[in-house]
This record gives sequence, C-alpha cells and structure tokens, in this order.
Amino acid sequence: MLELCYYGDAVLRKTCRPVEKFDEDLAALVRDMTETMREEDGAGLAAPQVGKSLRVIVVDATFGEAEPYVLVNPEITESSEEKIQEDEGCLSLPGITLQLTRSARVSVKAFDVKGEPYTIENAEGLLAKALQHEMDHLNGILLIDRISPVQRALLSGKLKKIAGKKE
Ligand code: NI
Repeated sequence: MLELCYYGDAVLRKTCRPVEKFDEDLAALVRDMTETMREEDGAGLAAPQVGKSLRVIVVDATFGEAEPYVLVNPEITESSEEKIQEDEGCLSLPGITLQLTRSARVSVKAFDVKGEPYTIENAEGLLAKALQHEMDHLNGILLIDRISPVQRALLSGKLKKIAGKKE
C-alpha cells in the first residue's frame, strides 16, 4: 500500500502533468493506487494523493464489486445542467465531510493503462461524483475550495490539525 498525502502537502496543490509513457511504471502505479483505494475504502484515488503529480485516477463506485475504472489524462466532455447535492469526503482530508453541489451526470474521455482511449457516457450517482472529485485533484483542487469562505473558516481548526500545524 502507498502512503497517503494529506492536506498541507504541496503535491495536492499542483496541477498534475499528463502521462506521456504508458509503460510498466504506470502499470505499477495504477496497481498500487487500486490497492491503496481498496485498503482505505475509498470510491476513488488520484495520483497526487500518493505523491505522484500525474494525471492518473482510479475510481470504483462499487467498493470492490467490479474492476475499478483507470483513467489516464481524463477530460470531462459533458456535464449535466442538473445538479446533485451530497455529502463528500476525501482520503486526504480525514474526518471532514462536506455537502457539495456537483453535476448529476458527466461524460468523460480518458486513456486506459495501456494507452487505449475510451469514454464513460452519462455516469451518474456515486460514479459521477467520484469522477468529478478525483479529476479536481489533478488540478490541485480540494473539497474545501468548493465551499464558502465562512464554511471554510469554521474548519480551520480541523485543517490545521490535518496539516500537522497544531495550535
Ligand atoms: Ni479526494
């Protein structure tokens, strides 16, 4: 299992670079990320959460019932106007759950671990939410960037603890 990076780690704030080589290193990263996601009971994991600033995510909205989606260099091609408001957490922000507004459905294009392009059309529910959440990570965006400054101020104590800057 890979070590997780938590809020306060600079790698979570970087814009990740695209994958250029679909090689054994990438395959190993994806295997390790999948294992880590499963160990942590996550619905998804992004490479920067394990310290790799690369555009790679794994998503499993079935919690181990199916093979996870591996998305390399993913892009959202369509987002529904319809929104959903649901609780969301993040492995890099332990102990924090926030109600966020996301598109109810998204379509995504990406490459698989071997470099084959594919699409996910009209994902909905937890899958739609997880895809949007994990793709935010690739642009250095965290849950706490999607709430109001007032809500965020209320979390400042928790955030400081997570970042290891205890008061
Ligand atoms: Ni997250």
